[in-house]
Order: sequence, then C-alpha cells, then structure tokens
Amino acid sequence: MAAPLLEVDDLRVEFGTGPETASVLNGVSYHVDEGETLAVLGESGSGKSVTAQTVMGILDTPPGRITGGAVRFRGEELLGAAPERRRLLRGESMAMIFQDALSALNPVYTVGFQIAEQFRFRRGMSRRDAMARAVEMLDLVRIPSAAQRVKEYPHQFSGGMRQRAMIAMSLALDPELLIADEPTTALDVTVQAQIMELLDELRRERGMGLILITHDLGVVAEVADRIAVMYAGRIVEQTDAASLYAHPAHPYTRGLMDSVPRVDDLGRGAGAPLRPIPGLPPSLSAIPNGCPFHPRCAYAVDVCTDEVPPLREIGAGHRAACHFAERFAAEGPDRPATQEVISR
Ligand SMILES: Nc1ncnc2c1ncn2[C@@H]1O[C@H](COP(=O)(O)OP(=O)(O)O)[C@@H](O)[C@H]1O
Ligand code: SF4
Ligand SMILES: [Mg+2]
Repeated sequence: MAAPLLEVDDLRVEFGTGPETASVLNGVSYHVDEGETLAVLGESGSGKSVTAQTVMGILDTPPGRITGGAVRFRGEELLGAAPERRRLLRGESMAMIFQDALSALNPVYTVGFQIAEQFRFRRGMSRRDAMARAVEMLDLVRIPSAAQRVKEYPHQFSGGMRQRAMIAMSLALDPELLIADEPTTALDVTVQAQIMELLDELRRERGMGLILITHDLGVVAEVADRIAVMYAGRIVEQTDAASLYAHPAHPYTRGLMDSVPRVDDLGRGAGAPLRPIPGLPPSLSAIPNGCPFHPRCAYAVDVCTDEVPPLREIGAGHRAACHFAERFAAEGPDRPATQEVISR
C-alpha cells in the first residue's frame, strides 16, 4: 500500500526547561490521505497548532524542542531533513493558512503583489505574467472583480475576502496538502460557512489533502472525512466522521459534541441544551497521572487515575484512548451527557 500523504507518528514536543518544562505534544499520531479532509479538533491549548507548525517545519526551536517521533510526507522523513528541503516543500508540497489573515498579509503591498511574488521567485515568471496568474488565483477563490481587486491592499478587503486571498496565496504553487489552522474563527457564521465550502470545493477540484484545525465541531461537521480529537497534547480519538457522531468512544469527544449547537447533525434531539465540558484542560507542565482527562470525566474510576489509557484500535479505523472506549462506543450518543452524570 502506498504511504499516506502525511503521517505524524508519535510526535513529542516540549517547551521550557527544568521544572518549567511543558510537554506540549505527548505522542501525537495522525495521517491524511490524498484528497481527504482530516479535522483536528480540540480545545484551545491542546497542541493542534504546535503539531501543524512541526509538520510545516516552522516551529520556533527554541523555545520549542522536538523530542521524539516522525513526520513523513509521502513516506519521506521530514524531521531532521535539510532546511533547504523543508523550504522547498513549503508552498510546493504543503501550505498552511492561519486564523488571522490580516497579520499574515503584508499591509504595505497589494494583495496581487503578494500572490505574484511566489510566481516570480519560485516560478521565474515576469512581473506581468505573475500578476496575470495572481488574478487567476483570486478568481479561483471566487473573489469578484479579481482584475480590480488584485490592485487593492489587504485593509481594503473584508475579513472573509482576506481569508480567500490567503487561500489563494497558499494554493499558488499547487500544494498537495493544505493545513488550515482555525481559518474561520475570526469570521461571522455565514462567512465561516462560505469559507468552509470553498475549502471543500478546492480540495475536491485539486485532489488535495486538507487538514482543518478547529475547536468547534460544528464548523467541520459537514466537510470532514475523518476526525482526530486532541486533548492535552495527545490524540484521544480518531475515526471517520460518521462513526464519531454515531459512536463517540471517548467521554471528551462526547463533551465536545454536547457543547456545540448542531443538534440535528450530531444525533441528539432537537433543542437539546448545550453543556460545556466542566473544568479546564490541565497545565501542560503538570499533566495528571493516569488518564489526562480524569479530573473532568464523570465516568472516572480508580483505574483512570492509575493507568494511562493507550490509544488503541476499537473497531475498523476507530482508535480511542479510554479504558472503557468499547462500552461508550456501543452506547452511542444517547448515553447521559457528562454533566447529567455528575449532577446525579
Ligand atoms: N512559543 C511557545 N512558547 C511556549 N509555549 C508555547 C509556545 N507555543 C505554544 N505553546 C504552548 O503549547 C500548548 C499548545 O499550544 P497550541 O498548539 O497553540 O494549542 P492549540 O492550537 O490547540 O490551541 C499551549 O499550552 C501553549 O501555551
Ligand atoms: S479513561 Fe477513565 S477518566 Fe479517562 S476518559 Fe475514560 S472513563 Fe474518563
Ligand atoms: Mg491553535
């Protein structure tokens, strides 16, 4: 079988030194196949962005330190690869867009100039040809009147249009993998949906692999093929989207489902109340013993505080890191929500 497009294998990253050391990634593993959308879901601080930055080769080291694991692109090991190789892969093979398009764009250059730069410097095109390609790229991301807008500055674009421009820039060199790190968080709900739809269409048209990073399951519900759920620097559950909704195996996944208002899609009755997960994620310099989720888990018993549940296969392509994963998966989403159990 061909290697996956991208494979992250037991990735470990720390920040800081001595007693201040924070284990930010504690063995993260996921993969993305060609043409597939993987959603990486988890609360803020769970390590989603650090994983993506390590994949892209843009993690700041120091203060970050990669202490173990592998990142393979089409089977090629990237950790430890020469910096020139990583630079070449960035843009050509893998690209990333960020939540804040305004700070990612340079305010003093036109949007068109910034897109055209890539064609000039990495494709050796003339200024004029590169600008013509920039117009095509703005067209591709459905920006109306692209030939005019290409001459405008980032501040003349709305938030949604800026994010489209960022997508155009990231796709200029035709990457096989696009990582979108909370690309719609700063946008209003209607624009969020439009950007998600655009990313989904572009992925299909270009056969790209897409990693959608989000803290909001509602945003990715309709476009994700598979979902990897992160907690405290680990993947705690990973499976195809349909199984995740029908058979969530980890109480944390269930908690995330209960805290978003997409009742119809997520298998709960219409009008089911929102129930945020109680408590906060642990400090990464003091991760609890046993299951890192146990202080917030209504189902925790003795074994949960003693033994770390490994991420293990509980069904075809369904992996979960909970001692009772099989039982929870079998019960499906009708099992009482975490907070109902707590309040009994
Ligand atoms: N440059 C940095 N220096 C120190 N700690 C960092 C740095 N970048 C990220 N972290 C820590 O790593 C953890 C994971 O961060 P991140 O991957 O950005 O989370 P997420 O994207 O899931 O919200 C956080 O606790 C954060 O404080
Ligand atoms: S292992 Fe225990 S504490 Fe952790 S999620 Fe499962 S039931 Fe909850
Ligand atoms: Mg992040």
